[in-house]
Amino acid sequence: MPSKIKIFDTTLRDGEQTPGVNLNIHEKLEIARQLAKLGVDVIEAGFAIASPGDFEAVKAVAENVKGITVASLCRAVEKDIDRAFEAVKNAERPRIHTFIATSDIHMKYKLKMNENEVLERAVAMVKYAKKYCEDVEFSAEDASRTRVEFLYKVVEAVIAAGATVVNIPDTVGYAAPLEYGKLIRGIKENVNGIEKIDLSVHCHNDLGLAVANTLAAMENGATQLECTINGLGERAGNAALEEIIMGINTRKDFYKIDHGIDMSQIYRTSKLVSSLTGVNVQPNKAIVGANAFAHESGIHQHGVLSEKSTYEIMTPESIGLTQNRMVLGKLSGRHAFEERLKEMGYSLPTEEVQKAFEKFKVLADKKKVVLDADIEALVGEKVSEVPEIFELEAFQISSGNKVVATSTVSLKRNEDSITEAATGDGPVDAAFNAIERAVGSSFELEAYGLRAVTEGKDALGEVTVRVSKDGKIFVGRGVSTDIIEASVKAYINAINRAISELGEDTLKN
Ligand code: KIV
Ligand code: ZN
Repeated sequence: MPSKIKIFDTTLRDGEQTPGVNLNIHEKLEIARQLAKLGVDVIEAGFAIASPGDFEAVKAVAENVKGITVASLCRAVEKDIDRAFEAVKNAERPRIHTFIATSDIHMKYKLKMNENEVLERAVAMVKYAKKYCEDVEFSAEDASRTRVEFLYKVVEAVIAAGATVVNIPDTVGYAAPLEYGKLIRGIKENVNGIEKIDLSVHCHNDLGLAVANTLAAMENGATQLECTINGLGERAGNAALEEIIMGINTRKDFYKIDHGIDMSQIYRTSKLVSSLTGVNVQPNKAIVGANAFAHESGIHQHGVLSEKSTYEIMTPESIGLTQNRMVLGKLSGRHAFEERLKEMGYSLPTEEVQKAFEKFKVLADKKKVVLDADIEALVGEKVSEVPEIFELEAFQISSGNKVVATSTVSLKRNEDSITEAATGDGPVDAAFNAIERAVGSSFELEAYGLRAVTEGKDALGEVTVRVSKDGKIFVGRGVSTDIIEASVKAYINAINRAISELGEDTLKN
């Protein structure tokens, strides 16, 4: 095993392939900056040829996020490789990541190519990419279901062609840990030139084994691990970065390997990704779930109070989760608020601090105790990320179990105020219908989620909505002690996002 494992984060590429996730360029940049702070070695910033938006986002990450390798994925096709290089060429360390499937099933039904044709294409495209870029990663898609002798042959040939990293994906999450470990060992032992390159793994979680497979591969010689924050990704997702790292770290007695991750940034990164993608973390998710450090049974609580190590194998502080303590009161000034934000690890531009402070003041008036989690929710609302084309001025709701819910909503657009009323199936539906009238366009509500940020009747409610327009998905968030207000803010936030991405014309339909 190497003394230090490399971490390749693909939250912005495979993670963005999570159904319903659509990040804009600002959000991708923000996540990329946080990933650099977290200490990943490589950021796969997107699939440059997929759309102009993907291209611009990869380019922006390459040009603005320094100190790491920035990769773009591309099929083993010349025009894809051209586009990938165009997007990453200004990175401090650019990488082209090209792939082609090698399993019988993919070659026969998807590519309609035989083994020789695939081998030839793989070699030719690695050589083609190499003309642009020293660092070229090759992935043998569906490697875990590939005839092993053919896999050895492909890996050896692409190394000879100049690949610096070869990735062995378990594309459909089919492998079992012992079997996958053996596959990696077999490659290490049977492929000429393997010691010259990084051997990478990329595991999907269809059978819930992505992290186990990744760690098994590392034990058997993999030197780069591909993963995503919160385990986002196609279908059941990819191996979760936070689980891999805390596994390696908590069991350093067993794995005996180093990594470059600053674990104190794990919680912040998870929160940011969850808030920008609109994909909530399940409460019982390892490491970053809300219950990951909660001890419910009396026996466990007693044990932890006497000696933490009885039931706690790692501390919440190690992932940057501070105690949920009271922060400030309503008389606290801006300076104290800013200091607390810094202690919590935020470094926000002055305008954002001011916005968060204003929201804090409003909240402190309504809520007796303001906790760190409340501050996180306020800061995470990130209204500033999207131009506030429409702003909420006021709303009024009338609803009950025997009356039709009715809502009046006033929105501000530039200097104009637009007021509309509508009915609906309940107060939220009525408010959303009134907003659509005021905006002058309809949207499809795909998903609605509500979570209490802290405990207690006066807790902040955080609403996440996912709306679709012209086949694209937009996520909106809103936070308030009043859940209807949180819903209204979330809906307006999603609509502003849609307009800023699709343009004003989108309001015509
Ligand atoms: O799952 C997979 O095989 C992939 C490759 C394209 C790396 O995402
Ligand atoms: Zn994948």
